Amino acid sequence: MAKVERVGISLDGRLLSMFDRLIAKQGYPNRSEAFRDLIRDRLGREELANPAAKAVGAVFLVYDHHTANLTQKLLDLQHSHLLKVVASIHIHLDEHDCLEAVILKGKVGEIEKMAGRLTSLKGVKLGRVNMISAEGELA
Ligand code: NI
Repeated sequence: MAKVERVGISLDGRLLSMFDRLIAKQGYPNRSEAFRDLIRDRLGREELANPAAKAVGAVFLVYDHHTANLTQKLLDLQHSHLLKVVASIHIHLDEHDCLEAVILKGKVGEIEKMAGRLTSLKGVKLGRVNMISAEGELA
């Protein structure tokens, strides 16, 4: 861990009290931790704009497992991208629908491409990807 440095910032009182209310609601123990997380989040989002940056993504898929060939296509796609798929979890939501969470690791561009292929499969009712940067402090 790099040397910790202290900085002072100036904020107008209204903005600061709004910030304090927000971080209290979220359960932050102090402003420093909340500011650190804000900075990490902003830096991470900046890194995610680079298709070559390292990242981890979670792709959530909701689909009806009765849709012809869909389960097989989902499995085939995951098996053909072994280097990127690090884990998956399958939950039976009800008698028809399944939720699958596929965790991908790789470059931002690769994850986006794979997530796009998974979520665009016919029969996928809901597809969403959530990515975090694996660059910077997390590399
Ligand atoms: Ni299922």
